[in-house]
Amino acid sequence: MRKRSYMKLFAVCGVILFFAVALMLGRSSAAVPQGNPASEWARSKHANRETAIAEATVERRGTTAAHCGRCHSEQGFLAWLPQLLAGDPGLIKKPDGSAADVEYLSRLGLTVDRVQPITCRTCHGEDFEPRIRDNTPILPAGFDAWAVGEGALCMTCHNTRNGRIQWDTADPGRYTAPHESAQADVIMGKNSFFLNDTVDRASAHALFTSDSCVTCHLVLGKNGHTFEPSETVCANCHGPSMTIQFVQKPIEALLDQVKAAIERRILAVRDRIGVVRKWDPATDQYTDNFPLDGRQIAKVAEILSVHGQIAFRFTLADGQEVYARAGEIWDKPDGQRVFATSDPIIRACWNYLLIEHDGSLGVHNPSFARDVLTATLNALR
Ligand code: HEC
Ligand code: HEC
Ligand code: HEC
Ligand code: HEC
Ligand code: HEC
Repeated sequence: MRKRSYMKLFAVCGVILFFAVALMLGRSSAAVPQGNPASEWARSKHANRETAIAEATVERRGTTAAHCGRCHSEQGFLAWLPQLLAGDPGLIKKPDGSAADVEYLSRLGLTVDRVQPITCRTCHGEDFEPRIRDNTPILPAGFDAWAVGEGALCMTCHNTRNGRIQWDTADPGRYTAPHESAQADVIMGKNSFFLNDTVDRASAHALFTSDSCVTCHLVLGKNGHTFEPSETVCANCHGPSMTIQFVQKPIEALLDQVKAAIERRILAVRDRIGVVRKWDPATDQYTDNFPLDGRQIAKVAEILSVHGQIAFRFTLADGQEVYARAGEIWDKPDGQRVFATSDPIIRACWNYLLIEHDGSLGVHNPSFARDVLTATLNALR
């Protein structure tokens, strides 16, 4: 009798222990990335010191390092974070609230010899906690995101950085392009022209996946701190039939149609083009008053962003390529701009680049990507 109850106790304890261990293992494999964060990180673009040197040092950028340094360097981000959390997403300021000068930025370490890229310390405080979680403060892109778990950290840098746009304006008054990092805007459904973005268009991928960006790019990824999502990431939640291509193929088709519609509009007025400020991608230099006979333009080969502004790559009849920013195309020297900021193609180019720069071809927010592109096509009709 006695012996049997001991046996029972052992059996019960064994079962409890088994489940406790299983639970711990299960949890740790979900939360702690397997593999080696240091070597994975070293292979990722976050470790790219070249970009930090080019964009976030006083030698290369002067006081503009107070702009770019916020997201392109460890030192800039850490200096900026308290200011951001206090409600000011603007450029890095000195503790007394005045604009940062070269001397102050140098002391922070935004110099060619000292600048650091997006290091472990950038994202993690003590004990490897992410520095931001759950809610973001108002971001440089002019909105905030609530209850997005650890994705809040990623959104702090991965947003378009140019303030909130007014979706139904007839004239944005600028040629600004959305930055290369449009992911937070797209997943939260913000900053589109022609499509009302003041209503809630946030994706379930941001709101109901627990940690948003981090769920797909780290927890369910197979590549740890490279933050590359795995090819089969969708299957985790949607079953084995759902693939990345289910979303990317139609969105790519719509992107092509928007580009073709913009190209048609440009070719329709090409006769007016006489002179541009030409940009050279090899040297990153401009040539003022470059004569360009618009009738020679055969194709708008690419819509892109050059130094933060909407730009085009034209292919001429003789095969020559000419790059020019949308606001630097005139009928004649000291003449009139061919594309005013109120021209719908400027808002259309913003939308095109918003979806293109997001980099997921619609995956982050499938319905929003589709609605932005179809609204753009309607506006260009
Ligand atoms: C709000 C944060 C933020 C600010 C401010 C910012 N960037 Fe970025 N930038 C990013 C992120 C994030 C990426 C990576 C986007 C991606 O690859 O999808 C990026 C990408 C880039 C790239 C492309 C890099 C590559 O490897 O292709 C360039 C160039 C760039 N930024 C230049 C600048 C410059 C110049 C400034 C200042 C005028 C600036 N950025 C300010 C967040 C920012
Ligand atoms: C771009 C931001 C970013 C960078 C850079 C980064 N991490 Fe992480 N790391 C994260 C996030 C997000 C998590 C998930 C946090 C969690 O679930 O606990 C994480 C998780 C971890 C964890 C597991 C912690 C835990 O408690 O589960 C370790 C350890 C870690 N990182 C180490 C590093 C190291 C070492 C580096 C530098 C080589 C690094 N990280 C760089 C964002 C980053
Ligand atoms: C401190 C700012 C910052 C934070 C925080 C940050 N990133 Fe980045 N991220 C960048 C910059 C800057 C780049 C581009 C670097 C380059 O191209 O040299 C980048 C690049 C990337 C890339 C590669 C993009 C490409 O074009 O290949 C991915 C993926 C990425 N980040 C995901 C994340 C995720 C997921 C998080 C949150 C865990 C995160 N990032 C947090 C600044 C940041
Ligand atoms: C539902 C899963 C999911 C979520 C959530 C998610 N991503 Fe992605 N992300 C992807 C997939 C899939 C791709 C496309 C990869 C491809 O085409 O190979 C992608 C692409 C990207 C890219 C471009 C990578 C490249 O190589 O150019 C960046 C940067 C990125 N995501 C960052 C983020 C950030 C930041 C967030 C949160 C704001 C986020 N992602 C949320 C799945 C996700
Ligand atoms: C972490 C879980 C998770 C992952 C991974 C995930 N999804 Fe989702 N997805 C969701 C949830 C939750 C919804 C909302 C559910 C609903 O609407 O029934 C959703 C909705 C969608 C929708 C409809 C949303 C819309 O905007 O209309 C599409 C399409 C979609 N996912 C495609 C994908 C693709 C493609 C991938 C892989 C790149 C993917 N998902 C990865 C959780 C996930």
